[in-house]
Amino acid sequence: MNTLKGLLLAGGTGSRLRPLTYTGAKQLIPVANRPILFYAIDAMVAAGITDIGVIIGDTGEEVQDALGEGSQFDCHFTFIPQSAPLGLAHAVKVARNFLSDSPFLMFLGDNLLRGGLTRLVDRFRQGDFAASILLTEVDNPEHFGVAVVDHGRVIHLIEKPQNPPSKLALVGAYCFTPLIHQAIERLKPSWRGEYEITDAIQGLLDADLPVDATLVEGWWKDTGRPEDVLEANRLVLEDIQTAVHGEVDNDSRIEGRVVIQKGAQIWRSTIRGPVSIASGAKVEDSYVGPYTSIGPGVHIIHTEIENSVVLSDSHIIDVSERIDQSLVGRGVIVQGIRSRPRAVHLILGDQSRIDL
Ligand code: DAU
Repeated sequence: MNTLKGLLLAGGTGSRLRPLTYTGAKQLIPVANRPILFYAIDAMVAAGITDIGVIIGDTGEEVQDALGEGSQFDCHFTFIPQSAPLGLAHAVKVARNFLSDSPFLMFLGDNLLRGGLTRLVDRFRQGDFAASILLTEVDNPEHFGVAVVDHGRVIHLIEKPQNPPSKLALVGAYCFTPLIHQAIERLKPSWRGEYEITDAIQGLLDADLPVDATLVEGWWKDTGRPEDVLEANRLVLEDIQTAVHGEVDNDSRIEGRVVIQKGAQIWRSTIRGPVSIASGAKVEDSYVGPYTSIGPGVHIIHTEIENSVVLSDSHIIDVSERIDQSLVGRGVIVQGIRSRPRAVHLILGDQSRIDL
């Protein structure tokens, strides 16, 4: 088989992650202080895919700046603008010149797969399939593409069904031969107005072409919603190893597996891992508890926080209640009020959320 190319999807609107995605690409939201998209690239390169087309939309400039031309990942990127997020199959169509007649792996830039892509890619390379897909059992199949499998063979696929025929969701990693382009040509927009890759793969099945399916090993996470980002952060932090390169004073305690990057400062605080603290962050008289990522330039002062992700340059100061299960964007200020009257004073952007 010809060398597989890669197609990484980093367009879309990220509407379910607003307000964070008003100012940035959803695929660049960090978990354990690394953009989600970077884990996707690592997985592609580890599977031997180094010629990668990246679909970009409105946030294209930010994505290009973060990725560069590819040398930091040992691969080469070709950026492919998509005029509007008209669907995953539309993204393949837009990439047709780049893909030419090569077989390819398509990976959704907001998906995280602990087990990587190597098994999927190897099966596809060794077999004789029109497509290879990955499936996993989920509790909420109505939010995904859903597969019906009989004796290990995929017999039917349907995108976000109201009454799911099974609990097997399509994971955002697919291998295709060029036959998929013909199936895409025949597509009509779905009820949500998108050209669905799920419908294109159903087109392959309708033409009696073989579609291989395997179950995911390890965890898989689609980071479409805020609670998914927190869960992805938790899952990635499960695997970190201690590396303390920042400054920690003698009045602080570090417990469990903790990454503290060079240039971070921890004064009179307890850090209970797994925790990741980025360069330039400052933690003073505070508690940072398990499953928390503190971004670059963040200040946590007189505050307790756990199970949370704080993006760059935010200041969280003098908050009297423990912050839990929270996703805080860039440059946010959360300031406790010590004087009376102790009213709540809010300046929140559009579609912010606060639970008191
Ligand atoms: O995560 C797995 C699911 O991904 C599958 O189970 C579904 O079958 C599949 O349709 C897809 O569903 P989503 O609704 O979650 O896809 P989403 O719109 O979030 O887009 C996935 C990624 O692709 C995201 O990083 C944005 C990017 N994208 C999306 C569209 C629609 C593009 O680059 N261009 C697009 O036109």
